[in-house]
Amino acid sequence: MDTIKIRTPDDWHLHLRSGEFLAAVLPFTIRCFQRAIVMPNLKPPVAAVASAETYYQNIKSLLPAGSIFEPLMTLYLTPETTPELIAAAAAHPHIYGVKLYPAGATTNSDYGVGSLKSLDDIFAAMQEHDLVLQVHGEDNKAHTDPFDREAVFIEEQLLPLRQKFPDLRIVLEHATTTSAVDFVNAWPRTAATVTPQHLLLNRGALFAGGLRPHHYCLPVLKREEHRKALLQAVTTPGQSSFFLGTDSAPHPTGCKHSACGCAGIFSAHAAIELYAEAFDSVAALDQLETFSSLNGPAFYGLPVNSGSITLKRESWTVPVSYPFGSESLVPLRADEQVHWRIVG
Ligand code: DOR
Ligand code: ZN
Repeated sequence: MDTIKIRTPDDWHLHLRSGEFLAAVLPFTIRCFQRAIVMPNLKPPVAAVASAETYYQNIKSLLPAGSIFEPLMTLYLTPETTPELIAAAAAHPHIYGVKLYPAGATTNSDYGVGSLKSLDDIFAAMQEHDLVLQVHGEDNKAHTDPFDREAVFIEEQLLPLRQKFPDLRIVLEHATTTSAVDFVNAWPRTAATVTPQHLLLNRGALFAGGLRPHHYCLPVLKREEHRKALLQAVTTPGQSSFFLGTDSAPHPTGCKHSACGCAGIFSAHAAIELYAEAFDSVAALDQLETFSSLNGPAFYGLPVNSGSITLKRESWTVPVSYPFGSESLVPLRADEQVHWRIVG
C-alpha cells in the first residue's frame, strides 16, 4: 500500500500551551486533525469552567478563516475541585473531561493530587455525570523507579479506582507498558491513548550515540518488549480501546538543552505521518483509521468526522527546528526523514 485514505483523524491528547507558543504550534495540529483534547497544564492550570472557556475562545480566535478545527477542553483536577464544579463542567458544551495529574509526576503537575483516596466524591460526581476521567498514570513516590511508575500506579491506584467506580469512563493517557495494555484490555469503559514515540522508539533512543533530550518525555520511553506490545495492541483488528493521542508537548530548545531538561516531545509537525510509519512497520496500515479516526469518537460519544485525508509513502526531511515565538522548537526526527506525507 503506497497511499492510504482515512477519515479525518482527531488528537485525543495534545499540549497547545498559550500565548506566542500556542500561535506557533496550532497550525501543525490543524493541518491534519479536526478535533483535539487540549491538555490543561498551563500556568496557572485550567481548573475552572471559566478558564476552560477562555482558553477555548483563545484557541478559536487563532484559527484561520474557514477552519473547522474544534478544541475539546478538559479541566485540571486539583485538591480544590468540587462535585459542583464537575456538574458544571459536564453541562458545559466545550468540556469533555477532567485530567488527573499525580502531583509532581510531570511537567506543570504541581497543582495535581496526592492520593486518589480522598477524591471519591469527585469520581462519584464524574461517574454520575458521565464525564471522562483522563489519567496521567504514573506513581509519584520519589523512590519509585521511573521505568516502573506506570505499572505501580496501575496496581496501587488505578485498579482500586476502576473497581470502585465501574461506570466511570477512564482514559489511561499515553500508555507505555504491557501493564497498561493488559489493564485496558481487561476492563470495560477503559481506554488508552498511545503516542507516536512510544510506538516507534524504545528507551535505547534516549542514549543513542549520546544523551538525547528530544527523546525525553513522561512517561519515559520503555523497553522494546513494551513497544512491541503497544504496537500489537493498536493494530489488532477489532480493538476499540486504543486511540490516537500524540501528547505533542513543545518546549523551547533552551529548556530541553539544559542540565535539568524538560519532559516533552513535539510531534505535531508529523504526527499522523509517524503513526502511519508505525502501522506500516507491521503491515497494519488497514488498522490506522480505526485507531486514528474511529475509536476516539466512539469512546467519547462523538460523531466521526465526515472528511478524509490521504497519506502517501514519500520521504521528506524534517527541519532542524521551527520558530516558537521568540524561541525555537526542535521537533521529533529533526533533520531526519519521515517516510509518509499528507497529499490530500
Ligand atoms: O513529557 C511530557 N510532557 N509528559 C507530560 O505528561 C506533560 C508534557 C508537557 O506538558 O510538557
Ligand atoms: Zn500530556
